[in-house]
Amino acid sequence: MSSARLEDVSKDYALGRTQVSALRGVSLAVEPGEFVAVAGPSGSGKSTLLNLVGCLDHPSAGRVVVDGRDVAALDDDALSDLRAQKIGFIFQSFNLIPVLSALENVEFPLLFRGLPRAQSRARAERALDEVGLGDVARHRPDELSGGQRQRVAIARALVTAPVLVLADEPTANLDSKTGEAILDLMLDLNRKQGTTFIFSTHDPKVLVHAQRVLRLADGRLEAAS
Ligand SMILES: Nc1ncnc2c1ncn2[C@@H]1O[C@H](COP(=O)(O)OP(=O)(O)OP(=O)(O)O)[C@@H](O)[C@H]1O
Ligand SMILES: [Mg+2]
Repeated sequence: MSSARLEDVSKDYALGRTQVSALRGVSLAVEPGEFVAVAGPSGSGKSTLLNLVGCLDHPSAGRVVVDGRDVAALDDDALSDLRAQKIGFIFQSFNLIPVLSALENVEFPLLFRGLPRAQSRARAERALDEVGLGDVARHRPDELSGGQRQRVAIARALVTAPVLVLADEPTANLDSKTGEAILDLMLDLNRKQGTTFIFSTHDPKVLVHAQRVLRLADGRLEAAS
């Protein structure tokens, strides 16, 4: 069973009276344990593709299958369960909750899953330590730098030990040393726990670590490399 599969997926956005075709007939399968990059110029559809795989949006046409389940067949509750239990999402724009501290942001998905407070706290603290943010755990997002916010978002995505991690430009806002540390963390999880990663990137230094690169151009997937 593949971690994620797109079958002839298209996505159109309405923009006033015009329509933008963000994805055009994309088919792909990512197997469990793969470490896959999505590359392509700005506007080529990378975020759109990750959002569809992450069940955050519905395709205009085609089928999205995640962890063996056809996403279109799931109601809202089943979809949020699938997201909460299986998927970790690192957004391009972080999506941290501004009134919560870094620690509370990371703890949030664990509490949402019903994990007791003491356990949630301990796991969140460990996750923040792993991304090198142990000493700013009590800071709110507006008291952190862009790179630190990015690392909070990464800790939050990984703290639930999801089987599938979708990461939209996970190293884009980081200096090269921090970017490498984040990439090492992702590679380590991939090797040791078999976590499947699908991540978008512009960065050639990050691309070389991918087992496979999916290249998008103008909403279409180019031949595999
Ligand atoms: N909510 C939206 N409404 C209208 N158009 C959108 C929306 N989201 C994306 N688009 C359009 O869809 C196309 C693909 O956008 P997408 O964000 O997927 O690109 P991307 O490859 O992630 O770009 P970047 O590298 O800049 O993040 C673009 O033309 C974009 O303008
Ligand atoms: Mg994007």
